Amino acid sequence: MKGIILAGGRATRLFPITRGTCKQLLPVYDKPMIYYPLSVLMLAGIREILIISTPQDIGNFKSLFGDGSSMGLTIEYAEQAKPRGLAEAFIIGEDFIKNQRVCMILGDNIFYGDQLGMYLKRTVKSRRGGSVFAYNVSEPQRYGVVEFNRDKEPVRVVEKPKKPKSNWAVTGIYFFDKNAAAVAKKVKPSPRGELEITDVINAYMRKGDCHVEFLGRGMAWLDTGTYDSLMDAGMFIKIIEERQGLKIGCVEEIAYREGFINKRQLLKLADEFKTSYGQYLKRIVAHEG
Ligand code: DAU
Repeated sequence: MKGIILAGGRATRLFPITRGTCKQLLPVYDKPMIYYPLSVLMLAGIREILIISTPQDIGNFKSLFGDGSSMGLTIEYAEQAKPRGLAEAFIIGEDFIKNQRVCMILGDNIFYGDQLGMYLKRTVKSRRGGSVFAYNVSEPQRYGVVEFNRDKEPVRVVEKPKKPKSNWAVTGIYFFDKNAAAVAKKVKPSPRGELEITDVINAYMRKGDCHVEFLGRGMAWLDTGTYDSLMDAGMFIKIIEERQGLKIGCVEEIAYREGFINKRQLLKLADEFKTSYGQYLKRIVAHEG
């Protein structure tokens, strides 16, 4: 399965912070925001990844990750000239996806929870056309919202409804079969001028071929779209990391624990960071010894 991280857009709600840099490179406590969605793909066992960002920002992601080989990954890059919508990621990534299944994740989505790896690996194994993850939220009108029929089966997803019919928001992680690009190409721009991801999901749902996984209360799905939610996300990560002495979204650690790299490679990565982050990576190996 291939992975795509969509990390473009303008993030005007965070101006002036994001005037000169992109949102997905902002710090969330001790690491850049994109580490968190990248860690999700890695926990799903996905190692071939395409990062899509704006022409101005793509170079910064290349500086951050290079070709990905230091973490046992293959990372490619592509530009999205304008923010024409989330579904465009499948069209931009069509050659990269090459008739395989694909998981697309938004570069500003942060997930945390014990069961996450299990949910992801189960979804990767399933042979369904599409799978999305829904999360109960207090302000559903800000998201794509799941609607149900009388039998309580999900029937469609509505983008930012004024009067939401449920509190189940579709999160920014989407699994589709090899037809994702073909389906996205048939989507027409919405009134706001975007190729909506909800139209892709609905095309699969109409065929009865999209599974909705409902994430339980033990999971955290954090927002980073405003000054306050960005700060809260950083505090959340800091509090859990300090309490447990374990990092969240630490891609170098995950690369090692998933067997993508060996001890020597992890220590080489650790040497590059003369910070407590580097010391943490070294401790992983030392504790095993
Ligand atoms: O976070 C989950 C939600 O993400 C879903 O519930 C919605 O159905 C989905 O449309 C999306 O809603 P948002 O309001 O969060 O979308 P936004 O336009 O803010 O874009 C999400 C991220 O993707 C953001 O970091 C910017 C980036 N982006 C966005 C667009 C439209 C791109 O990289 N390219 C784009 O063309």
